[in-house]
Amino acid sequence: MTVQKATNIHWHDGQITKDNRQHLLQQNGIVIWFTGLSGSGKSTLARALEEKLFERGHLCFVLDGDNVRHGLNKNLGFSPEDREENIRRIGEVAKLFADAGLIAMTAFISPYRKDRDQARSLLNKDEFIEIYVKVPLEIAEQRDPKGLYKKARAGEIKEFTGISAPYEEPANAELILDTGDLSLNECVEKILEYMIAKKIIK
Ligand code: ADX
Repeated sequence: MTVQKATNIHWHDGQITKDNRQHLLQQNGIVIWFTGLSGSGKSTLARALEEKLFERGHLCFVLDGDNVRHGLNKNLGFSPEDREENIRRIGEVAKLFADAGLIAMTAFISPYRKDRDQARSLLNKDEFIEIYVKVPLEIAEQRDPKGLYKKARAGEIKEFTGISAPYEEPANAELILDTGDLSLNECVEKILEYMIAKKIIK
């Protein structure tokens, strides 16, 4: 748990509520949290889903690990503490996007269950959809789109998830998608089906 450092601060709400913003945008502000190994397909899937939702008139925003680490989280590395802080900040940012009425998607390894659960705890039930982008390590390693597994095996990258750092599988993910078995389109369809069944979209 991160401690509250500042004192003498007071919460302030405006007249326009999340409900008002959702009504204006005609959608539900939620967080779709993708988790999985590097190379599992989180970012690709988030982008493909964003395109489909956009076509249907939904405003989304994708927060992506590699991108966010160029800016907001450029001062964080890959130690367990830094990953925890990475995910803590992203959880808070995703919540802000959801409060703004957007469909926020996050594509971070987010290897620790407690950190993902902490992000989940910021939102109401039904407003947080955890999607485990599951792939056998061997397949992620074969794909190796950025050549990082090769470097990790050679000892050039320390604390690499799946090789020398842990990945804790979700226990209660809303959806599990095996990108070793399913095509990108099939994965997107499964998410859309879930969102329709839960009345998040029509
Ligand atoms: S997380 O563990 O803190 O959630 P995040 O998703 O932000 O990780 O960043 C993961 C991306 O950083 C990977 O896809 C990969 O491109 C890169 N990366 C660089 N070093 C590492 C490492 N030691 N472990 C995992 N990913 C790494």
